[in-house]
Amino acid sequence: MTGPRSDVQLYSTEALLDPFPIYRDLRDLGGAVWLNAHDMFILPRYADVKAALSNWQVFSSAGGVTMNDEMNDKLRGGLLCSDPPNHDVLRKIIERPVMPKALAELRQRVTDEAEKLVERLVEKGTFDAATELSQHLPVTIVSELVGLPEEGRERMLAWAPANFDCFGPINDRTNAAFPIVGEMVQYAFTQCVPGKLKPGGWAQMIWDAADRGEIDPSICPFLMNDYMGPSLDTTIFATTSAIWLFAKHPEQWDAIRKNPAMIPSAINEVIRIESPIQTFSRYVAKDYEIDGTTLPTGSRAIVAFGSANRDERYWGNPDEFDINRDGSQTHMGFGFGEHQCVGNNLARLEIRALLTALVKRVERFELHEVRRGVNNVLRGIEKCVVTVH
Ligand code: HEM
Repeated sequence: MTGPRSDVQLYSTEALLDPFPIYRDLRDLGGAVWLNAHDMFILPRYADVKAALSNWQVFSSAGGVTMNDEMNDKLRGGLLCSDPPNHDVLRKIIERPVMPKALAELRQRVTDEAEKLVERLVEKGTFDAATELSQHLPVTIVSELVGLPEEGRERMLAWAPANFDCFGPINDRTNAAFPIVGEMVQYAFTQCVPGKLKPGGWAQMIWDAADRGEIDPSICPFLMNDYMGPSLDTTIFATTSAIWLFAKHPEQWDAIRKNPAMIPSAINEVIRIESPIQTFSRYVAKDYEIDGTTLPTGSRAIVAFGSANRDERYWGNPDEFDINRDGSQTHMGFGFGEHQCVGNNLARLEIRALLTALVKRVERFELHEVRRGVNNVLRGIEKCVVTVH
């Protein structure tokens, strides 16, 4: 095979903890780089990631978006691992409760929860933002609005990151996570079924769509994962990253305190620079050339959201946290194209409610203990003890 190659171990603990220098080297090597350690390409540059995400005919999700065949087989046919026209049918069902119009009805409830939580934590003074602040809203939403049965629900916070570990190439983390994901699948098949789900909840709405003949009922348990899997740790990590970044950049915290209208662009900047989902992949369904390198049919290409979001060919000072960035630039942190994050408005709503409650009450975050989580595709902090002043 011609074109640039690299021996980098992209999924080693060391690389996962600090992937950014590796991404920079890969971007300098070319638009498509063959990874000897993983037997697949990586697209590390912004322009190529965006082009691939916009071209499902070549960069297929139906051929799987994880980095191993076992998980791709398990997810095949669900929302994430499908192409149009199947994808469009599923997406219409999953997106119903999380489109802006439906979320407008939720806004007050989320705002009230966020205000109560923040008030309690500010009174406490010192707390772990990663758990005490960031987990409450996503967990409450999944539990109550999705309407899953209580039995087993407490395992959700173990299932969600395990699900993402299984997106990596086969390594110790993937192997350790498979049995945990097995539990989640078991829960979806045995508990997330009519009669056990809350009437009117988002999960029941999926079965209702099957009753109306919009989808085959056999697909319903797979679709449960679309609310359970991707809605927790992504949002939890994004929220904690926001606190960590604002603790390290007090002048930017001052700026949003002075002008809370900047909170939405600050959220975009957090998601750009930290990218809670760093890498997914696509199956190459037709020969395709990038930068003189041919990606042959049947190969796999990692779409590196986290690298695209730090590409100096597109962003000025990409490693700098700057909430004043030009709003017309689009980050890839929620993906792009057909599969762009269906829950992005919900995630934004939750994080915005928390930051809005915090700007009213907190002048400074003082960082104590910070520990990063290690996950095959997620980036985030699992312990972040702060004192608020
Ligand atoms: C900050 C939080 C979040 C981040 C960074 C994030 C990131 C992403 C990314 C990068 C994708 C694109 C995957 C691809 O192109 O293959 C995606 C898709 C998706 N996300 Fe999110 N997400 C977040 C929150 C949520 C929430 C709260 C939900 C709950 C509904 C959710 C549900 C989904 C689903 C179902 C998909 C698949 C969409 C499709 O295939 O059409 N996400 N997300």
